[in-house]
Amino acid sequence: MLSDQVIANIDNALRTLTGQQVGSDRPYPAQGIPDALLRPWERQRAGRMMRVNHAGEIMAQALYTGQATGTDDPALRAQLQRARAEEGDHLRWCEARLRELNSRPSLLAPLWYGAGWGMGFLAARRGRASNLGLVVAVEHQVEEHLNSHLDALPAEDHRSRAIVTQMRNDEAGHAEKAEALGAGKLPAPVRMAMGVFSRVLTRGALWL
Ligand SMILES: [Fe+2]
Ligand SMILES: [Fe+2]
Repeated sequence: MLSDQVIANIDNALRTLTGQQVGSDRPYPAQGIPDALLRPWERQRAGRMMRVNHAGEIMAQALYTGQATGTDDPALRAQLQRARAEEGDHLRWCEARLRELNSRPSLLAPLWYGAGWGMGFLAARRGRASNLGLVVAVEHQVEEHLNSHLDALPAEDHRSRAIVTQMRNDEAGHAEKAEALGAGKLPAPVRMAMGVFSRVLTRGALWL
């Protein structure tokens, strides 16, 4: 029913933007890893990087929600919702690490959510291949981005590193699954626009 969909969508947006996402309840990857004595500027830099990752996970919630809403295929919707629950773990972990680093979420979170939802919904309306194609394109992009963070995070920040590593592995798994389910390749202009948007997010959330 349409009203159920609307309520579920509002519920996810509110949970995502107010830090109430429970995800699939997997344990915190940094659990048991001692927090290094980072220099103040290292701590600040790690905090900014985790804010970018947190913004990316807000967008992941929005994308998967838009994609699940836009598809007419119940099996595909269930698969998208399962991946979204894993992304919910990522969101929680990033939130926790942001707090530990005395950082804060991006002020532009509602903007990231809105953009992600719209993108996901439109891809879903274009059909299954394009819906899954978006998953593959986004997840590969995120995987690459997280690898760059593993190069750039302070070497001693083992807690952030454990979180980012687990996320990177999950994102690779999401892409693989979508490929196996029949993802199509997105048109070049769409991929280009996604590249531009990802730069806007990774730069924007670094500061705002
Ligand atoms: Fe994620
Ligand atoms: Fe993912």
